[in-house]
Amino acid sequence: MTALPIPVRSPLPTGLAGATVVIVGGTSGIGLAAGELLRDVGARVVLVGRDKKRLDAAIEKVGGLGVSADGADEDALAAVFDQAGSVDHVLVTAGGIGGAGPITGVSADDVRAAFESRVWGAFAAARVAATRLPAGGSITLSSGIYTIRPVPGMTGPLAAVGAVETFTGALAVELAPRRLRVNAVRYGSFDTPLMRGLSGLTTDEAFAAAGSSAPLGRYGTADEAAASALFLMANPYVTGQVITVDGGQSLV
Ligand SMILES: NC(=O)c1ccc[n+]([C@@H]2O[C@H](COP(=O)([O-])OP(=O)(O)OC[C@H]3O[C@@H](n4cnc5c(N)ncnc54)[C@H](OP(=O)(O)O)[C@@H]3O)[C@@H](O)[C@H]2O)c1
Repeated sequence: MTALPIPVRSPLPTGLAGATVVIVGGTSGIGLAAGELLRDVGARVVLVGRDKKRLDAAIEKVGGLGVSADGADEDALAAVFDQAGSVDHVLVTAGGIGGAGPITGVSADDVRAAFESRVWGAFAAARVAATRLPAGGSITLSSGIYTIRPVPGMTGPLAAVGAVETFTGALAVELAPRRLRVNAVRYGSFDTPLMRGLSGLTTDEAFAAAGSSAPLGRYGTADEAAASALFLMANPYVTGQVITVDGGQSLV
């Protein structure tokens, strides 16, 4: 088989101008922020989330196309791609922390659901993207620093997120001959609805106070998290990497 030519373009986020990016989980937090950044550099954005009201609000903010679908449902995701027409890059930020709880107390069904959402979400995105993205396309997945700094009661979700990290490298090797790249961001604590909900810190003051013990004196913004995903998407020579973006939180 003749090797595909190796696409070369600007590694800056502005190199994404004119590209179409599907964001699975684009209706809130990091995915929503990525949608706005991508729009600002001239990319066409397709936002995917399950909740229709949230989706409508996100489209109002970002513009582009919005499709309500479960990212772990391969057929539904395939339909999103068909609706989008051509797609160059996929960002998966879908996911919560379902399946959390002590190993002897957590429900096996909840843990299975976490795997279904996280691992199968990554598989579904990859299977749909692998046959549709053009050479030079990319898939960017999401992880978190608890995979390397675990806390009690998170064995189920962390096993699932850890699988996504392993999946990232394995898929990168498999898809490299097609000139597709696969990466993931391992996030620290960022100010998103997920993080606010989990922490129970409802006011800005309480959130800022909790973040003050982080090495840089605050938690990150959703824009800062999203910009790291754009870096991975834009740089044509980065693949198979899980980059930690956490303001140094995993070091202390
Ligand atoms: N924020 C942090 O500090 C932090 C830290 C470590 C890791 N992370 C990871 O980073 C990713 C983004 O987090 P975030 O803080 O931006 O979360 P968020 O604000 O809760 O946003 C998650 C988005 O994913 C969508 N979603 C969830 N499950 C989905 C599914 N099955 N199919 C389609 N869409 C789905 C949600 O919309 P619907 O519910 O309407 O579908 C929402 O748009 C997550 O994977 C999270 O675990 C975040």
